[in-house]
Amino acid sequence: MQKQLNIALPNGQYPIIIDSEKFDFSEFKSWLAGKKIMVVSNEVVAPLYLDELIQLFADNQVYHCLIGDGEIHKTKNSWLKILDALAEQQFNRSDVLVSLGGGIVCDITGFAAASWMRGMAFVQVPTTLLSQIDASVGGKTGINHPKGKNMIGAFHQPQAVIINAKTLRTLPTREFNAGIGEAIKYAGINQAWFYDWLVNHQQAIKQLDEAVLMELITHCCQFKTKIVEQDEKEQGIRALLNLGHTFGHAIETISDYHYLHGEAVALGMVMAAELSAQLGFCEPDIRKMLENLLQAFELPIMLDNQYAAEEILTLMKSDKKVINDQHRLILLKDMGQAFIAEGVKDAEILEAINSCMTQ
Ligand SMILES: NC(=O)c1ccc[n+]([C@@H]2O[C@H](COP(=O)([O-])OP(=O)(O)OC[C@H]3O[C@@H](n4cnc5c(N)ncnc54)[C@H](O)[C@@H]3O)[C@@H](O)[C@H]2O)c1
Repeated sequence: MQKQLNIALPNGQYPIIIDSEKFDFSEFKSWLAGKKIMVVSNEVVAPLYLDELIQLFADNQVYHCLIGDGEIHKTKNSWLKILDALAEQQFNRSDVLVSLGGGIVCDITGFAAASWMRGMAFVQVPTTLLSQIDASVGGKTGINHPKGKNMIGAFHQPQAVIINAKTLRTLPTREFNAGIGEAIKYAGINQAWFYDWLVNHQQAIKQLDEAVLMELITHCCQFKTKIVEQDEKEQGIRALLNLGHTFGHAIETISDYHYLHGEAVALGMVMAAELSAQLGFCEPDIRKMLENLLQAFELPIMLDNQYAAEEILTLMKSDKKVINDQHRLILLKDMGQAFIAEGVKDAEILEAINSCMTQ
C-alpha cells in the first residue's frame, strides 16, 4: 500500500511517500546518480534498518555516521560528528545526507544539512510515529542547548520524506504512544472530527492495523503540509502547531528529558486546556476530553510534583515564542479551535501548571 503527498513551497516542492512495507526511493534513482550518500542513524535504529536502506543505494558511494540515542544526544557534539564525517569523506553541496531514525536523528541530520557548506540536500527517512507524522515534515531542523530545547537550528526543507510504516512494528509501545500525543495535538488545533476518529480507531491503532496506520500517517502529514504551505517560517498560522509545546519544552528541560517529547506535549496540552478554561476561553470539559484520549494511549496527564511550577515558568520565558517579554501561548476555544493568546499573566500560567501537578 502506498500514498504520496506533495508539499509545495515558494522555493520548490517535495514528495512525502508513505509506504506500508518498504523504503521507496525508486523515483529518486536519476536524481541520486553519481552522488555520495551519508546515512545518519543511531545505535538503536541502525541494526534494524541500515542494511535494508543501504542496499537501495548500490550504485552510489555510501557512508554512514551513527550518533548516540536519545534527547541527551541532540547536541552540538552529535551535529559536529556528522560534519566531521562529511569533511572526512569530502562531501560537497551536490551530495546527499539521509536521516534514518526518529525525530532526533531527523532534526540533527537536517541541521547538519542546513549548515554544511551553507546548505546541502537531505532526505528524511523517519522511523517513529512521531517523526512520520510531524518531525520529518516542514523543514524545522535543530539541536538543543543546555539552557533549552531546540534553541539552535534552521529552516531547511528536505528533498523528500520517505516513510516506511513497517518500521513502527519494532517501535517500543511507549514511543509509539508518544507519537499519538502529536496526533492528538492536530485534533486540538482545528480537527475536532479527528478527535472522534482517534477515539473510534484506538483499538485498531494499538494493534498497528496497516490500513488504519496508513490513514493516520497520511492524514497527519496532509494536515501539517497544509499549515506549512501557508506559513513556512512560522510568521503566523504555523505557530498553532506549538499547541502544548511551550509548556512541553519547559517540562522536557526541567525533567532532564525524563518525559519523552510526545509525553511532555501531552502534559502541555492539558495545561493549555486548563489555562484556557481558567481564562474563560473554553469549557472545563475540554481538558477532560483531552485527558480521556491521552490516557487511552497511556500518556501522562499530571506532572510529577517534584518539579517546581516557578521553574517551569522561568524556562517558558526563554522559549523562542516569547516576544518582547510577552508570552505567546496556543490556547483553546474548543476542541479543534486553537488560537494564539498574547499577554497571559505569569500568575495565570502558574495556576494552570499547579492544577496539573500530582498532589
Ligand atoms: N522538526 C520538527 O518539526 C519536530 C516536530 C516534532 C518533534 N520534533 C523533535 O523530535 C524529537 C522526538 O522524536 P521521537 O519521538 O521520534 O524520538 P527519538 O528520535 O528519540 O526516537 C524514539 C526512540 O525510538 C528509537 N527508534 C526509532 N525508530 C525506531 C524503530 N523503528 N524501532 C525501534 N526503535 C526505534 C530511537 O532510537 C529512540 O530510542 C524531539 O527532539 C522533538 O523536538 C521535531
